[in-house]
Amino acid sequence: MNTALALSIWSSLPVPALLIDASDNIADMNPAAEGFMNNSAKWIVGQPIWDRLAVDAPIEESFLRARENGTPLFVNDVDVGTGSRPPLVCSLHIAPLAGTPGWMIVLISPRELAGRITQSHSVKSAAKSAIGMAEMLAHEIKNPLAGIAGAAQLLSMGLEKDDLELTDLIVSETRRIVKLLEQVEQFGNLSRPEKRAVNVHDVLDRARRSALLGFGGHMNMIEDYDPSLPLAWGDPDQLLQVVLNLLKNASEAADPKEGGRIRLRTFYEHSFRLRRADGSGQLLPLQIEIVDDGPGLPDDIKGDIFDPFVSGKENGTGLGLALVSKIISDHDGWISVESVPGRTLFRISLPLAPKDAKEGE
Ligand SMILES: Nc1ncnc2c1ncn2[C@@H]1O[C@H](COP(=O)(O)OP(=O)(O)OP(=O)(O)O)[C@@H](O)[C@H]1O
Ligand SMILES: [Mg+2]
Repeated sequence: MNTALALSIWSSLPVPALLIDASDNIADMNPAAEGFMNNSAKWIVGQPIWDRLAVDAPIEESFLRARENGTPLFVNDVDVGTGSRPPLVCSLHIAPLAGTPGWMIVLISPRELAGRITQSHSVKSAAKSAIGMAEMLAHEIKNPLAGIAGAAQLLSMGLEKDDLELTDLIVSETRRIVKLLEQVEQFGNLSRPEKRAVNVHDVLDRARRSALLGFGGHMNMIEDYDPSLPLAWGDPDQLLQVVLNLLKNASEAADPKEGGRIRLRTFYEHSFRLRRADGSGQLLPLQIEIVDDGPGLPDDIKGDIFDPFVSGKENGTGLGLALVSKIISDHDGWISVESVPGRTLFRISLPLAPKDAKEGE
């Protein structure tokens, strides 16, 4: 293989890769590693690897052994932090560099990506069966409920004040259930997206404005857009619904009096590719991030927030994120979340519009 080919393989590797010299300094890193470390090779090359990469496992000794014996090393499921962002669960492949004694190559595969793929698929099927069932029930329950509410209203006509409170309670609670059932039905009725070339900044702007006028009046929203972002391929109304749901959750998580901050960020990540179980891959280079500074996801539901009916709120239906997840997967896109107290980040990754598509077509 010639050098040019080797170089281009190195820079196209979709996995963060680092080259470590014999004295444990970073000798080189590929673009995926620059993305992972959130820093450019210019700054990082020459620095000691263990200053830059915080691995939550006693790995240095095994690393030395791998170097001495010239054998590869595989470390599964360790937290890898880079100083500038919270640690991710990763697998590490470490191998001696053939022909250059003492040099090692380190491949970092964030489990996040692999884990997220299965998650989205299971979300889809779990959502389908739970929603199918709920839809059927919703339909069956709505009619008798209307009867109950009507009867309570009739009863209330001849009642004293104390008893009136009870019939009022029946009426208001049945209304609440009807509203919930309507949301379930709406979920089931969600049509396939009508995809066209969309400017995601328009979608974000519409969502931001309507949020500020409604549920998000107490929030401070900051835009951080990449103005050169190309058009996405999607259904603008459904994407609006996605962003609104995320903004609503972020606004609800903030203190109602103090408010909070939401950052809307867009950027292009040319190597973001989703690999599906069948081996096919799709590029999802358009990234939208919605970051809030609220308390973060409740620990007990952290792993299930995209499932229907999972809610940490007293009056939540738990359908918001299930809907988000369904819409994004109908768009062949991807959604992920990272949350620690003070910083909750939802990231949506979307495909590009076909090259010759004009906006709205
Ligand atoms: N930005 C966030 N910060 C903190 N917690 C969040 C955030 N987004 C979602 N959650 C948690 O995830 C749960 C599920 O969210 P989801 O939108 O699916 O349902 P919900 O908001 O409870 O109900 P609904 O959206 O139907 O009103 C929420 O109840 C909340 O506990
Ligand atoms: Mg919600």
